[in-house]
Amino acid sequence: MDKMDAMGLSGVTELIPEEKILERVAQLGHEITSDYKGKDLILIGVLKGCFLFMADLCRNISLPLSCDFLGVSSYGNRTSTSGVIRITSDLTRPIEGKDVLVVEDIVDTGLTMNYLLENLSTRKPKSIKVCTLLHKPARQMVSTPIDYLGFSIDDVFVIGYGLDFQNRYRNLRFIGIKTQDDR
Ligand code: IMP
Repeated sequence: MDKMDAMGLSGVTELIPEEKILERVAQLGHEITSDYKGKDLILIGVLKGCFLFMADLCRNISLPLSCDFLGVSSYGNRTSTSGVIRITSDLTRPIEGKDVLVVEDIVDTGLTMNYLLENLSTRKPKSIKVCTLLHKPARQMVSTPIDYLGFSIDDVFVIGYGLDFQNRYRNLRFIGIKTQDDR
């Protein structure tokens, strides 16, 4: 029995191991630390997928910062978005005059990020940048600025480290490819 079967994860293949994720997240944190010195940084995490990435990223940024979260859900089928986005829980504070860094798990078609950037820019932040752990360039439908990127990946459906399939697998320490349907 291989490692995945033993964990009840048949149909999942490891794509990015935990050590590689943590190493890259630390690098991103250091880059952000040097870019945002002296600024009024607020990290805005996009729930739910960001929660582990946000937790690790913010602990690698050695600056005074604040954190807030936005909940979004997109109408679509099980594995792709329709582009119709809904904010399910909004920020708790205004962001006017602040240097906003949006923290996302994955930019796929780019529709969610596009919507969020449009929405957040109406709230008059001083600057807005995007940090995403993953990007699937092959699936991109609208161009989205990505200022900090963890990994570029092929057109595969990934799970783990916050990313879900039908709300499961978010707790995996690694990022895996979901290769078979387990409904
Ligand atoms: P968008 O297509 O860029 O708008 O991405 C919308 C959302 O779909 C992302 O924030 C993720 O929550 C989800 N998503 C896209 N691709 C994947 C994937 O491979 N695994 C898990 N969730 C995904």
